[in-house]
Amino acid sequence: MDIRDAVASRFSCRAFLPTPVPEATVREILERAARAPSGGNLQPWRVYVLAGAPLAALKRKIAPRALENPRGEGAEYDVYPPGLKEPYESRRRAVGELLYRAIGVAREDRPGRYRQYARNFLFFDAPVGLFFAIDRQMGPPQWADLGMYIQTVMLLARAYGLHSCAQEAWTYWHKTVSAFLELPPELILFCGMALGYADPDAAINQWRSPREPVGGFASFRGFEEADS
Ligand SMILES: Cc1cc2nc3c(=O)[nH]c(=O)nc-3n(C[C@H](O)[C@H](O)[C@H](O)COP(=O)(O)O)c2cc1C
Repeated sequence: MDIRDAVASRFSCRAFLPTPVPEATVREILERAARAPSGGNLQPWRVYVLAGAPLAALKRKIAPRALENPRGEGAEYDVYPPGLKEPYESRRRAVGELLYRAIGVAREDRPGRYRQYARNFLFFDAPVGLFFAIDRQMGPPQWADLGMYIQTVMLLARAYGLHSCAQEAWTYWHKTVSAFLELPPELILFCGMALGYADPDAAINQWRSPREPVGGFASFRGFEEADS
């Protein structure tokens, strides 16, 4: 698969088929993704992979509580900065509206919205759930490194016919997840990721999030005029 196709075809998949993914495939993706760059080659990523019985056990622990308690155990870090400013707040709202419209949940239907949000804690029925963690000593540069690793995982997944969804929502259950994974205390959970084969018919997979055109976020100087 051409890298351009991998980038273009990745989207946050929120409904998966039950088709299992072999451990060897996930292992290979994680190993290849470790070619991601990191400042000073610190490779600060730590990954925990669940499938089968342990995945089911974690979901049983959290999913019923998540349905009743939107705030969970409280996020361990600010998922968004408090008082998120424009244009970011509007972008965030727009993607939420597109998501809920795709599944016919009205803006004012809070329970309906919450039922969908709570599906995060089922990994959207994906056969594989991953968690990404990083040492608490690390700062923004290393968190950026972790992000590069995660995106490399998501792009490589496309080459194996897999789809993914990164999930910060899991920070709201960081205590239960950390205890379940027996995370050493020096590690902080960043996010989860659902991984598997997309359900191509699910309504929630039928829309795509918008992007600003390049002129909106990049400026270019000093290039020669292209020959016409
Ligand atoms: C680090 C990270 C965490 C995310 N957390 C969640 C999440 O908890 N639940 C969810 O449904 N989507 C989550 N997303 C998906 C974003 O909403 C999505 O990437 C964004 O709207 C752009 O859409 P696209 O990924 O389909 O291109 C997350 C994405 C990233 C990169």
